[in-house]
Amino acid sequence: TATMDLVTLIIDEKEHKINKIVQSDLVAMLQAAYERGIRLDINSAYRDYETQQKLINRMDSTVGVERTEELVAKPGHSEHHLGTAIDFTTPEVGTEQTPTFGDTNAYKWLIENAWEYGFALSYPANNSNITGYTFEPWHWRYIGKEHASILKAHPELTLT
Ligand code: DAL
Ligand code: ZN
Repeated sequence: TATMDLVTLIIDEKEHKINKIVQSDLVAMLQAAYERGIRLDINSAYRDYETQQKLINRMDSTVGVERTEELVAKPGHSEHHLGTAIDFTTPEVGTEQTPTFGDTNAYKWLIENAWEYGFALSYPANNSNITGYTFEPWHWRYIGKEHASILKAHPELTLT
């Protein structure tokens, strides 16, 4: 089985575990955004199976089982287990993961620039019939610059 090196990234005293292969491009991307006046914060990065299940339990009791299934993968099926998926947020939307992130300048900046740092949007609005998940403007996955630039040029494609 593949091994994975997890590293801890500390931003504003908050710790996030990520796959080591993501580290340098992620830090470069956060820095580039910051220099443009865009603040990208991380809501969630690597999650183990247990954390994924706890998230499901918490969501079940707040938004209900049905909506949770549209939003959260079952343990073992989440890109967050890879340590390469990052849920971003920005101060104007706080730490809630809401579709309103899709209306922010942070999201617009990601759409224009994230591919240059190897990130792709996993669950775009136009492909939810294929991905099985509704639009998640916050959820970006590191796939490397080469593949990210191909996806950028072909919005009809998905990773799923
Ligand atoms: N929100 C995505 C689908 C996940 O839980 O991995
Ligand atoms: Zn996510």
